[in-house]
Amino acid sequence: MKVTKAIIPAAGLGTRVLPASKSVPKEMLNIVDKPAIQYIVEEAAAAGIKDILIITNRGKGVIEDHFDHSFELEYNLKAKGKDEILEAVSKSTNLANIYFIRQKETRGLGDAVLRARGFVGDEPFAVLYGDDVILGETPATKELCDAYEKYGKNVVGIKEVSDEFIVKYSSLKIEPLSATEYDVSDMIEKPTLETKFSNFSVLGRCVLKPEIFDILEKTPLGAGGELQLTDAMADFARKGDMVGVDFSGTRYDMGNKLGIMKANVEVALNHKEIGEDFKAYIKDLANKI
Ligand code: UTP
Repeated sequence: MKVTKAIIPAAGLGTRVLPASKSVPKEMLNIVDKPAIQYIVEEAAAAGIKDILIITNRGKGVIEDHFDHSFELEYNLKAKGKDEILEAVSKSTNLANIYFIRQKETRGLGDAVLRARGFVGDEPFAVLYGDDVILGETPATKELCDAYEKYGKNVVGIKEVSDEFIVKYSSLKIEPLSATEYDVSDMIEKPTLETKFSNFSVLGRCVLKPEIFDILEKTPLGAGGELQLTDAMADFARKGDMVGVDFSGTRYDMGNKLGIMKANVEVALNHKEIGEDFKAYIKDLANKI
């Protein structure tokens, strides 16, 4: 079955990027000239996703505005013949059918995913974490959807990370299936260095079967007193129903300050309008530091 629906949980508190995220949701923080969440919606659309549900909470109304028409702005740009800017501004409104729902309490990523039950119905669906931007030739979501069609199993996007990060993310028990695909037989959220299975972690993307909702309903609160998606996905892994894909793109964590800076610098270096000037600036700066 083809995956045509995706959800983007974007209802977290973003405490690691305060005060920037006090009144601007972290998903709306810029990478050069577009908010992070637009890169994520563009990735989903490029992977063939038609319907996207964004899970927000209080104070995140600007995300809805960003994907809506801005009549006055577009009218003015058109009247002034600023066609290129007009195209850039209206692009965000035409990427996919975008829906919104609120998570009323910040009870964790698993709880945010549960809010999507009515939208998803009885189909497999992709999850794109709202603060993980992945850039590359092939959309990571497409690589995961392809693996879903090939194996008929739940799929998680994975990468090898250092010990410093494995204790903050999740750790996977894996066996290779091919150069980039792995069988995942167990997983643990926020392990210690003693309890980790490996240094491979789920990073930002999954394709899940709708059975995840029943599992989530029964999953007790986990690390940090939150309903953890990893704890529910571990059920699939232990039943032999999970594959990991080491996706080809580069992932930028927009939930921390260094990740935001790396994303901005790397996107700016390749930007068609400012790339050359920025490269010269960075080279000059590098000679001075
Ligand atoms: P994080 O683990 O980064 O949590 O969420 P957070 O609360 O946003 O960030 P910190 O730890 O306070 O700095 C991963 C993704 O899950 C979403 C977030 O918006 C982010 O995209 N999320 C998290 C929810 O939608 N709801 C939640 O209750 C928690």
